[in-house]
Amino acid sequence: MSAVVVVGAQWGDEGKGKVIDFLSEQADMVVRHQGGNNAGHTVVVDDKVFKLHLIPSGILYPDTVCVIANGVVVDPATLLDEIAYLRHEGVSTDRLLLSSQAHLVMPYHARLDAVNEDRLGAHKLGTTLRGIGPAYMDKAARVGLRVGDLLHPDYFAARLRSVLEEKNRLFARAYDVPGFEFDEMYERYLAYGEALRPFLANTSVEINRAIGAGDRVLFEGAQGTHLDIDHGTFPFVTSSHPVAGGACIGAGVGPTKITQVYGVVKAYTSRVGDGPFPTELTGPQGDHIRERGSEYGTTTGRPRRVGWLDSAVLRHSARVNGMTGIAVTRLDVLDDLDELRIATGYRYQGAVLEDFPEMLPVLEQVEPLYETLPGWRQSIGQARKLGDLPKAAQAYLARLEDLTGVPIVLVSVGRDRSNTIPLTELF
Ligand code: GDP
Ligand code: IMO
Ligand code: MG
Repeated sequence: MSAVVVVGAQWGDEGKGKVIDFLSEQADMVVRHQGGNNAGHTVVVDDKVFKLHLIPSGILYPDTVCVIANGVVVDPATLLDEIAYLRHEGVSTDRLLLSSQAHLVMPYHARLDAVNEDRLGAHKLGTTLRGIGPAYMDKAARVGLRVGDLLHPDYFAARLRSVLEEKNRLFARAYDVPGFEFDEMYERYLAYGEALRPFLANTSVEINRAIGAGDRVLFEGAQGTHLDIDHGTFPFVTSSHPVAGGACIGAGVGPTKITQVYGVVKAYTSRVGDGPFPTELTGPQGDHIRERGSEYGTTTGRPRRVGWLDSAVLRHSARVNGMTGIAVTRLDVLDDLDELRIATGYRYQGAVLEDFPEMLPVLEQVEPLYETLPGWRQSIGQARKLGDLPKAAQAYLARLEDLTGVPIVLVSVGRDRSNTIPLTELF
């Protein structure tokens, strides 16, 4: 039995798509269990770039079953576009399963996301404006609509009518923006339901059956630990649970079934959207890493904020995820730096903090404590085993292990599948 959860250990965009794609070669099933099309996962195969938002990165392997489980919020128009895009690229989507229980992202969710960000003004969260927060709000408020509802027209009509009435009142009275018309939305969503019907399944049953049969199941986290609504830098977070425990809830799998948790760690740090980022580099050094690493959002195209590796961020991730291994990505982006810095902890009001602070007012005032390591100043993209890496790069990785207490299981030195160094059996 092998059920491996892969999570982002920082603020998202760590390279989860690349790592999942690499692991998928050995997987029988890959499951997305939280988030929605706020995620953007890039996979490069033989110079061809695939950008995925909802469909698990495992789809690029012909025999892997891919699952969008109950914890994901699904914008059906985006999902159908993604299916069409993959088919156009010659990738089969016949092995895609979609949970009937997954909640729908509706047009009023995106509008609510926008008016809410507007209202916050200078304090905005910098969301992806995909309606993800409002969709999870409706789920928690028990007025959300689910994918499976679309196959029950009368039931769907009654629920949509009720929720739309409330949303339209909110748009008119609180925000003074137009609302939505029932008939057009109802017809359009029923058509989406028909188009998605072939994919619908009781995904918890399918996933548990696969685990029970001894299949290798991979859980593909979206976003990152520090964007988790409980364990992230609240309120600058997303509205789901990117931590490993989220896989259990979001897929209907018990915690006793999970065998490994790998945290994907970018060799430096990036963040897109607003919120605290203690090791952020705002000057020319940050610009240099952003340009060298093409750090622009996969989903929104926004420039990503970048900074040094932060071990307090990673120790927090190791703890809340129960991480058993680290997959380091983008080590090659640091190839031309003379020296590198790693934050070992923070100074706050004269005291040294080793743990990542829980409260925003503290986090906003911490000053990172840095250790400086020599750079390697050579290209490492062709390395295929640890010993091929320059000594300085090996020392950087060893220090990362020391500071987190978690072993590194994989190192990625480029975008392509081939630019990958596995250090152990991964399943
Ligand atoms: P995700 O959201 O965690 O899947 O990450 P994204 O796909 O949004 O962003 C990661 C970017 O880094 C993508 O463009 C990947 O192709 C790229 N990438 C992944 N691993 C590596 C690596 O080791 N080196 C380099 N240079 N790029 C990488
Ligand atoms: P992947 O899976 C990076 C960020 C947004 C914003 C915050 C809330 O590609 O790593 P939301 O639209 O979710 O309500 O926005 O979360 N965010 C991400 N940042 N990578 C992502 O996904 C993200 N998904 C959401 O920028 O700061
Ligand atoms: Mg991304």
